[in-house]
Amino acid sequence: MPTQGQVIGIVSNLITIEVTGPVSQNEICYISLDDVKLKAEVIKINGKNVFAQVFESTRGLKVGCLVEFTDHLLEVELGPGMLSRNYDGLQNDLDAMTGVFLKRGEMTNPFSYEKKWDFSALAKKADKVQAGDWLGEVPENFIKHKIMVPFKLEGIWQVDSIVANGSYAVKEPVAVLKNANGQSIKVTMTQHWPVKVPMRGYANKPIAYKPLQTGVRLIDTINPIVEGGTGFIPGPFGCGKTVLQHIIAANAQVDMVIICACGERANEVVEIFKEFPELDDPNTGRKLIERTIIICNTSNMPVAAREASVYTAMTIAEYYRQMGVKILLLADSTSRWAQALREMSNRMEELPGPDAFPMDLPAIVANFYARAGLVELNNGQTGSVTFLGTVSPAGGNMKEPVTESTKKVARCFYALSQQRADSKRYPSIDTIESYSKYLEYKEVQEYLEENFEPHWIEKIAYIKDVLLRGKEAYDQINILGDDSVPVEYHERYWKSELVDFGFLQQDAFDPVDKATPLERQRYMMDIIYNICKADFKFDIFTEVTAYFKKVINIIRQLNFSEFQNEAFKKFEDELQSVLMERKIS
Ligand SMILES: Nc1ncnc2c1ncn2[C@@H]1O[C@H](COP(=O)(O)OP(=O)(O)O)[C@@H](O)[C@H]1O
Ligand SMILES: [Mg+2]
Repeated sequence: MPTQGQVIGIVSNLITIEVTGPVSQNEICYISLDDVKLKAEVIKINGKNVFAQVFESTRGLKVGCLVEFTDHLLEVELGPGMLSRNYDGLQNDLDAMTGVFLKRGEMTNPFSYEKKWDFSALAKKADKVQAGDWLGEVPENFIKHKIMVPFKLEGIWQVDSIVANGSYAVKEPVAVLKNANGQSIKVTMTQHWPVKVPMRGYANKPIAYKPLQTGVRLIDTINPIVEGGTGFIPGPFGCGKTVLQHIIAANAQVDMVIICACGERANEVVEIFKEFPELDDPNTGRKLIERTIIICNTSNMPVAAREASVYTAMTIAEYYRQMGVKILLLADSTSRWAQALREMSNRMEELPGPDAFPMDLPAIVANFYARAGLVELNNGQTGSVTFLGTVSPAGGNMKEPVTESTKKVARCFYALSQQRADSKRYPSIDTIESYSKYLEYKEVQEYLEENFEPHWIEKIAYIKDVLLRGKEAYDQINILGDDSVPVEYHERYWKSELVDFGFLQQDAFDPVDKATPLERQRYMMDIIYNICKADFKFDIFTEVTAYFKKVINIIRQLNFSEFQNEAFKKFEDELQSVLMERKIS
């Protein structure tokens, strides 16, 4: 008989339960309140007293309410039919809910149990298989959704039988496996996995090395992220974190996108729901929503489910990765997730760490980021989860615990600057503060050298230097006055402005400029690099300003034109003749 207990204390959504039997950490239990059952997760065990966080409002809950434990951890159900869905943090299908708001105790299936899928076998009788191996596949939108050996199975199994190709519902058995001990299990198209446990089922996790095209020049060229890499975007409120994530979600060269809207305001999330179904996928020409899953837990939903939502999203990403798929996982914002951790920790009266966050926050963040990555499957194919989270540091303070903890583990750092946002220089990623550790990886350097362009990294280092020297020149000009500094200072400053206006800035709302393929980025970088390297002839600073404004204007026109169409070529010619006017080397 499962363990039972009784509520003996309630602090908001933290309840204390006195139990009669064994309970494990992170086990799920249900609290009976009249005729609804509230879902809760065990977060601390102290002898007979168990602390659990309730995923819903605890209004009306009384001491003495009965609690039933389930012997299961917080799990998601995995199987075909998850693409295009909108889930809450506990994988309830938001569209299948009755009414606008979730009713207390209401739960829905994560996908249809009735729908039939067109199954084709990939394994045959007598094949030796292990957890995560492919038994068959069904077409889910455009992804070949693999039906895999359950991840919970240990050791080697043998396929005893597999059904004929045909159409089956997710709960119908498609294969029977047996092992050397004579155990035999039926496999269906669905399986469960505990969200807080990293999913294993791959052969190894090699170093991620292949740059991921996001279409954002400031990322791809200046500080690239790789397939299976991690990055984060800290920035004060209103600096463009959400817009940046959306533009990446729409344009990144991946097979699938999972968006976890975590604790942000509901109206922003409504925008994704409205926008995404409309958008076309630039890669396939189909609707973007077909390759997207949205997990949504807005600021008006209970805080505990918010904590679960990022894990739910990561687990679904890991599951699809096992199919050899390239996934981009976005979480907006991980600060709200950390705040949920803080609230629970405070309610449990734990000894607080910096800014009252739990002491183990750095470990929690590190463990989460470690789940992203490139994996090599048992059959030699690869899959990847690239993770990009936003962080909203209170008051823009980059020394706060969530930013600090994330900085230690995320390999790319895209700091958004208030100053850039205020002057409408979007995306407002601060080039001088930001970095990509991947540029220091031998594997990434070799890849770029051999497959993209020789000496590319040196070129980009040079451009970063132009930006830095431009900033210094600007400070000097400001201190000493326009005509008290040598004319070269102006030239230096305006070259950095050229890089900024001509390359870094990108209009998220322009149909052409919003996303730039890598090939085009390289082409434009070449033009800009050559201008930065050239010497020009100027007598007084006013000439510099006027001249570079003209150059910048032409380059911006180039950016807004279709690559290498008539207009593009015309602007290129115009640029050449303007450069000839003053170029001396
Ligand atoms: N890349 C961009 N191009 C144009 N406008 C932008 C861009 N990024 C942000 N903005 C403007 O800034 C506003 C706030 O951006 P948002 O992403 O919601 O900020 P945050 O999520 O950091 O609070 C947007 O509504 C938009 O008007
Ligand atoms: Mg936002």
